[in-house]
Amino acid sequence: MSKDLPPWRALLSGARHREGRAPSARWLQLASVAADGTPRVRTLVFRGWSGPAALDLLTDARSAKAAELAEQPAVELCWLLAKARCQFRLRGLVQTVEAESGQRLHHWQRLTPQGRSLWGWPRPGEPFQADAAFPETLDEETPVPEHFQLLRLSVERVELLDLGSHPHRRLRWCVADHWDEVRLNP
Ligand SMILES: Cc1cc2nc3c(=O)[nH]c(=O)nc-3n(C[C@H](O)[C@H](O)[C@H](O)COP(=O)(O)O)c2cc1C
Repeated sequence: MSKDLPPWRALLSGARHREGRAPSARWLQLASVAADGTPRVRTLVFRGWSGPAALDLLTDARSAKAAELAEQPAVELCWLLAKARCQFRLRGLVQTVEAESGQRLHHWQRLTPQGRSLWGWPRPGEPFQADAAFPETLDEETPVPEHFQLLRLSVERVELLDLGSHPHRRLRWCVADHWDEVRLNP
């Protein structure tokens, strides 16, 4: 791993590696704040790194979270890597990558036809209509839907809690401190 990456990247990568090919190694929880100040949390799939401290997520721009994040872009991600017995908490700001960006198309093309199909479904969170179309696949040639949203998190602070030793190891890094590592009580 490059020396230019923040130090927590190698630890996160090592913990992810321990999970093997389990799909759950890419599942993380995104916590945000709704317009009324109350918390929201949901699972998303990690879609890759877009910089040393930036990661990509995909969602539906018609979903509640899209409106919530437009208003309040400060979030925390919680990423549990069970085999490594590690919890990473990543804080930062989320922004939407512009529709014109080729990066959106890149993500669209990388999805499986089944993964893509979700963006062919009716508006999330609306009452279910039995006669609505829920395609099982969408092929690569399907134009990128307007509501295919690429979210990019710029990570500003990371905390690791590692239960694998006694006492547990809790580490913190902040971009404002040039990612200097600080050990905290667990
Ligand atoms: C394992 C798993 C992975 C998921 N991955 C995503 C994802 O990558 N993007 C997404 O928008 N929703 C994903 N979801 C659905 C969200 O958890 C959530 O139900 C949906 O996005 C609506 O959230 P909202 O009402 O807060 O906008 C996933 C759900 C599960 C259980």
